[in-house]
Amino acid sequence: MKTEDLIIIDSEANQNYSLESILNKVIQGDALQILKKIPDNSADLVFIDPPYFLQLPRKKLKRWNVKTDVEGVEDEWDKFVSFEEYDEFIKTVLLEMKRIMKDNATIWVISTYHSIFRIGKIMQDLGYWILNNIIWAKTNPMPNWLGVRFTNATETMIWATKNKKEKKYFFDKVKAKEFGIGKVGANLWLIPLCTGKERLKDENGKKLHATQKPQELLRRIIQTTSKEGDIIFDPLAGMGTTGFVAKALKRQFIMIEKEKKYTEGIRRRFQESPVLKENKIRKEIE
Ligand SMILES: C[S@@+](CC[C@H](N)C(=O)[O-])C[C@H]1O[C@@H](n2cnc3c(N)ncnc32)[C@H](O)[C@@H]1O
Repeated sequence: MKTEDLIIIDSEANQNYSLESILNKVIQGDALQILKKIPDNSADLVFIDPPYFLQLPRKKLKRWNVKTDVEGVEDEWDKFVSFEEYDEFIKTVLLEMKRIMKDNATIWVISTYHSIFRIGKIMQDLGYWILNNIIWAKTNPMPNWLGVRFTNATETMIWATKNKKEKKYFFDKVKAKEFGIGKVGANLWLIPLCTGKERLKDENGKKLHATQKPQELLRRIIQTTSKEGDIIFDPLAGMGTTGFVAKALKRQFIMIEKEKKYTEGIRRRFQESPVLKENKIRKEIE
């Protein structure tokens, strides 16, 4: 695929973006600035995978038996001074997204126990109406190496409408039955972490991004809660999993990511990876 035009570098000169100019693009820059320039009522579906604010100890965590380092999320983008600062960040993004979402659009926000409860409260305070919390249970989680608490094997995804009165949102109940447990399709999804060929690596063979999400997770979200041709918006895109899967499923996308090393990773991903076919996105579920 040709990717010369995939990335738009944001600048002060770009005062406002027309919807046409950003369709199927990644805007490189600070989402807090860029979101203000996006037109109202643009998105049919939103996926947000925000910083977790893990607050890891300064000392490197060692595995208890082999004494190698545990690789957590140590990137600058996950650091905030306080819960107040983190909450302000989340609130600003969610407020802008409410304006950018069409009235019948829905939004997914994913995180771990570190921040999902705060995010849920902020969403409710802003008037979002929660439809579900979907539990992603990892079949290959990172163990709790210190053995001081249970292994955290789950992340939670909040799925919501803009407000309580909006009933005309899209939900494909037939697809939903394929994924969940039981007749209607339950809110528990068993999916392995993103590993192997799917995981983007840097020139030293190290993970390019600490928290690249599995394609299968996005496949389920996009197939159950959007239609072909819909516009899927991800303002904190990382390795661009949302847009990558959206494209494969014949949806359109708009993504924002501030780090150049990641937007370059996205470009490579779109360039090198074979066009995904629906049945190829799905990985074997253990
Ligand atoms: C949890 S990661 C997203 C991972 C992504 N879902 C994937 O599958 O690769 C969050 C991303 O948000 C980006 N980010 C954080 N603050 C940002 C901001 N103000 N503007 C744009 N991107 C930001 C980080 O650089 C990071 O790549």
